[in-house]
Amino acid sequence: MAALHRQDRLFIGGEWVAPLDGEIAESIDPSTGTPWAVAAFGGVRDIDRAVDAARAAMKGPWGRMSVFERAGLLRRFAQAYEAQAAELAVLESRDNGRPIRETRADIGAHGQWYHYYAALADKLDGRAIPIDPTIHAYTTRVPVGVVGAIVPWNAPMLTTAWKVAPALAAGCAVIVKAAEQTPVTAFALARIAEAVGLPPGVLNVVPGHGHLAGARLVAHPGVDKISFTGEHRTAQEIVRSGATTLKRFSFELGGKSPHIIFDDADVEQALNAAASSAFVACGQSCALGSRLLVQDAIYDRVVEELAARAGRVRVGMPLDEATQMGPQAHAEQLEKTLSYFAIGRDEGARLVAGGRRREDLGPGYFVTPTVFADVTNDMRIAQEEIFGPVCSVIRFRDEDEAVAIANDTRYGLTAGLWTRDVGRAHRVANQIAAGTVWVNTYRYIRWSIPYGGFKMSGLGRENGPEALDNYLETRATVVNLTGRFADAYAT
Ligand code: NAI
Ligand code: MG
Repeated sequence: MAALHRQDRLFIGGEWVAPLDGEIAESIDPSTGTPWAVAAFGGVRDIDRAVDAARAAMKGPWGRMSVFERAGLLRRFAQAYEAQAAELAVLESRDNGRPIRETRADIGAHGQWYHYYAALADKLDGRAIPIDPTIHAYTTRVPVGVVGAIVPWNAPMLTTAWKVAPALAAGCAVIVKAAEQTPVTAFALARIAEAVGLPPGVLNVVPGHGHLAGARLVAHPGVDKISFTGEHRTAQEIVRSGATTLKRFSFELGGKSPHIIFDDADVEQALNAAASSAFVACGQSCALGSRLLVQDAIYDRVVEELAARAGRVRVGMPLDEATQMGPQAHAEQLEKTLSYFAIGRDEGARLVAGGRRREDLGPGYFVTPTVFADVTNDMRIAQEEIFGPVCSVIRFRDEDEAVAIANDTRYGLTAGLWTRDVGRAHRVANQIAAGTVWVNTYRYIRWSIPYGGFKMSGLGRENGPEALDNYLETRATVVNLTGRFADAYAT
């Protein structure tokens, strides 16, 4: 057996240190179900050390640095990230199982996030507010302080970039708590921080268990803000335990996105999008087009062709260039997805593709791309986030019904719609309660376009200039220009 990839030190305060009360844990390759790496996990005391280091960085050179110097460091960070993208894609494919063609495209674009926020780092202007000739009022935007970035396992490097890039641009210090299922790639950020000369403590990397390292970050009085991506139930727990110290929060949570195909659409293009949006990342994406709403006249054709496409998806080993869909990222997610195959059948949905494990591919966590037709929106497979490659197809009659079904969900992250009628496109988009609505495209996500959820899908926005708001406080300074203070109490 090949030697395990080793990453047995945490990165805290600019140093590589052994865990104090964490552990050295094995990381499983989901395509084989066996360990491929070992990684350091932080415990409670390790988080405490990281918070101290981050606070010291805010008081030290990082907190006093000019914005152009900070922007310069972040540009170098972006370049170093880009230079390593190909290597990082391989690590991520091994740790989380997404196919190399997907991680290469994904991670190949992350440099843009770092570049984009590097370019905003020296543009954090305030406003001068005209109000009265005797008063000079202005705003200053200041970093919120120490940020705990709690990231998931489905797209570890992407979700980390979305938090680290704007947080550093805002002048915050960050502790990255990578997920226990995918701890390996976060350490690459530590090596980059070291190589480009970020001051010690500005970026700390401490993977660990959610209920230990994650919970400690949330409870720690020295952490000012938690930026979290994951399940809404975890976010609820974070709000409860973060209430004691009144933390700032931003959340990117799940979705059950409606993907609507009207009968005047270019059905061929819509089908391309329907298949890729339902099966990308083996279904482990918050933006998944997991509810496909199809208008009466084209319903049978769409169901038949989507099922055929599902059957043609090349499921296989993540590092095989031909693979389109890899395994589920970990055993617990595999069990969850398999349970929903059974739930869909029990609820009376019509299984037209997949619905089973791919044991022929070995002990890895492989499943088939799955399509359920004749789903009604009250079924669990239409209401609950599965996070597996499962498309629930729902029939609708007209625009009003499509909108009603689309919004009948606790989530509100993304939505898609296909129509050639420009009036209908905007009319429907304006009625959908979601942070992103794609028209005649799907999953078009970029650094400069705000992204986040309505309702139970989140709080705040990532990407775009909006993301900086998550990491900044606004101070209003109000100056009396007259030298006299006169009010009811003055003599
Ligand atoms: P999770 O929300 O438990 O885990 C996400 C991150 O939160 C991990 O780093 C984990 O260690 C951390 N965490 C867990 N409990 C914590 C706590 N009490 N305090 C602080 N941090 C904590 O999500 P999980 O259990 O891995 O996945 C369950 C489901 O959540 C998935 O099947 C999927 O439906 C959804 N999910 C959605 C994601 C998204 O992109 N919006 C990402 C991951 C999961
Ligand atoms: Mg959990």
